[in-house]
Amino acid sequence: MIILQEIKRSYDGRVVLNIPYQEFEDGKTYFIKGESGTGKTTMFNIISGLALPEAGIVQVGDAMVQLMSERERDAFRADNVGYVFQDFNLFDGFSALENVMVPLTFATQKLSAATAKQRAKEALDKVGLGDKATRKVNKMSGGEKQRVAIARALVNVPKVLLADEPTGNLDRRNSGAIMDLLIASARACGATLLVISHDLSLADKFDEVLDIYDINQGEE
Ligand SMILES: Nc1ncnc2c1ncn2[C@@H]1O[C@H](COP(=O)(O)OP(=O)(O)OP(=O)(O)O)[C@@H](O)[C@H]1O
Ligand SMILES: [Mg+2]
Repeated sequence: MIILQEIKRSYDGRVVLNIPYQEFEDGKTYFIKGESGTGKTTMFNIISGLALPEAGIVQVGDAMVQLMSERERDAFRADNVGYVFQDFNLFDGFSALENVMVPLTFATQKLSAATAKQRAKEALDKVGLGDKATRKVNKMSGGEKQRVAIARALVNVPKVLLADEPTGNLDRRNSGAIMDLLIASARACGATLLVISHDLSLADKFDEVLDIYDINQGEE
């Protein structure tokens, strides 16, 4: 279970997140919609421990994320969270395989180089890019980069899979395929899946559809 309780986060003196209480159940898939600038990405950053709230509790399974040091949060994220970022955050000059291997270097349980490579290769196979593992990501299409970002999010078999507008750059057919891939991948890991999207035609695929306005009360 993910529990957000009494969460407050401001930027430049302006309240961006004010979440009285929100929970996400284990193994369920959630579609989260809402207008631009309403705190969706900020909520993902707080769940993943990339950002800290000024107040409140961020509980992910047994972990109390807001109590952890930055190093502990990095390890927590590597061990538990797969995050497909809104703007990919891939290393352009690196190959697909090298990008997918990055989270493994932060994991608590260290793998041998050969095992890490094998795991990354398997993750790329899952997203249909096994044959492009050695290609540099700056030579890839937007849709291919999106799938590399998904492979990187899956490589640690996360308990929580966050995807921030994963179909933003894709046509309708590929958008449906990416959502199906995320849902199938989450099921295979037994992960809770949270997807931010404003493509409402894809919302039916998910167990629950939430509006950020019902989660985030904003400025009081
Ligand atoms: N690191 C930051 N520094 C300053 N302001 C920030 C920062 N991150 C977010 N904000 C502000 O917080 C608000 C919410 O941003 P956020 O990225 O969470 O919105 P969003 O709902 O994901 O929007 P979009 O749909 O456009 O991606 C915005 O007004 C943004 O400018
Ligand atoms: Mg955003």
